[in-house]
Amino acid sequence: MILFSAKPEAWAEWEAPLRAAFAEEGIDVPLAPEGDPAEVEWILYAPNGPLRDFSPYVNLKGVQNLWAGVEAAVGNETLTAPLARMVDPGMTEGMVEWVVGHVMRHHLGMDADICRNDGQWVRHVAPLARERRVTMLGLGELGSACAQALASLNFDVTGWSRTEKRIDGIATEHEVAGLERALRGAEIVVLLLPLTEATRDLMDAERLGWLPRGAVIVNPGRGPLIDDDALIAALDSGQVAHATLDVFRTEPLPEGHPFWAHPGVTVTPHIASETRPVTASHVAAANLARAMRGEAMHHLVDRARGY
Ligand SMILES: NC(=O)c1ccc[n+]([C@@H]2O[C@H](COP(=O)([O-])OP(=O)(O)OC[C@H]3O[C@@H](n4cnc5c(N)ncnc54)[C@H](OP(=O)(O)O)[C@@H]3O)[C@@H](O)[C@H]2O)c1
Repeated sequence: MILFSAKPEAWAEWEAPLRAAFAEEGIDVPLAPEGDPAEVEWILYAPNGPLRDFSPYVNLKGVQNLWAGVEAAVGNETLTAPLARMVDPGMTEGMVEWVVGHVMRHHLGMDADICRNDGQWVRHVAPLARERRVTMLGLGELGSACAQALASLNFDVTGWSRTEKRIDGIATEHEVAGLERALRGAEIVVLLLPLTEATRDLMDAERLGWLPRGAVIVNPGRGPLIDDDALIAALDSGQVAHATLDVFRTEPLPEGHPFWAHPGVTVTPHIASETRPVTASHVAAANLARAMRGEAMHHLVDRARGY
C-alpha cells in the first residue's frame, strides 16, 4: 500500500488530486492515511506529520517527500529507503511570485514612497532594475527560476551554487571560493539554499560584511542559513538596511524574538511558497510509477550531501 503521512487535516485536501493522478498513471495500489506498517511499500511524507520512526515499515521501498526541504527527513536515521524530494511546478511558480514581489518592494523603495496622510511630498526615483545587482544564493529548482524571472525584468543577477552552472542572462559563481565575488556589490541577496552542514550559518558577520553598506536580505530558504546575532548587529549598524525573513530557527518565531520588534525586519510566517496538491500529486504519482516499474525515482536525495 501507499501511506499518506502528513498532518491529519491534510488528507482532505490531498485525497482527490492524489487519487486522480494515480488513476492517470495506472497505479492501483491502495492509498490511505493509515494502515498496517508491514503492508506499506511507499510513503508520501510531510515532515510536519506524526511519523518519526520508520523502523516498523519493514517493506518500505521508497519515500516521496511532499516538501522541497528535506533536512528533517535526511536527519532521520530510521529512514533508510530511497528518498525523493518534491519538485512541484506549482511551488516553483509561487516562489517566483513571492521572491519577485519582495525584491521589487526593496528595489522600488515602496515603503518610503507610499505617501502617508502626513502631507509629505518627498520624491525619490528608483534606479532601473538593470542598475540593481541582485545575488541569488542557490540555483536549484527554485533559485534558478527566481533568478531567471529577475533577469527577465532586467535585474543584474548573479547566482551562486555548489557546482558550476551556466544559465542564460545570469552571471554565476560556485563553491565557497566564488561566494565573496557573488556577495561583493550585491544590493539585494536572496537565499534559496537547502539547510545542510555546509550551508548552516553561511551568512555570518564576515560574509554580511562583504555586502555593500545598506544591502537587503530576502530569506525564503531556511532560518539557520543566517547567523541571527550577526544579522541583528548588521541591521543595527546599517550594514544591512532591511531583512525580509520567511523562515526561522524556531517556527513559529517565538514571542519576544528581536526580529519581531526590529524596524529593519519584515517577518512573514513561512508562506513564501507551498506545495500545491493538484500539481504536486502529478509529480508524486509519476515518480512512484517510475519506482514501481523498477526505475530510479527522480530528484533522489543524496544523504551524504544533505539535499
Ligand atoms: N519558505 C518556503 O516556503 C520554502 C518553500 C520551498 C522550499 N524552501 C527552501 O528552498 C530550498 C531550495 O529548494 P530547491 O528546490 O531550489 O532546492 P534544490 O533544487 O536542491 O537547489 C539547491 C541549490 O542550492 C545549492 N547548494 C546546496 N548546497 C550548497 C553549498 N554548500 N554551496 C553552494 N550552493 C549550494 C545547490 O547547488 P547545486 O546546483 O550545485 O547542487 C542548488 O543550486 C529548500 O531546500 C527549502 O529549504 C522554502
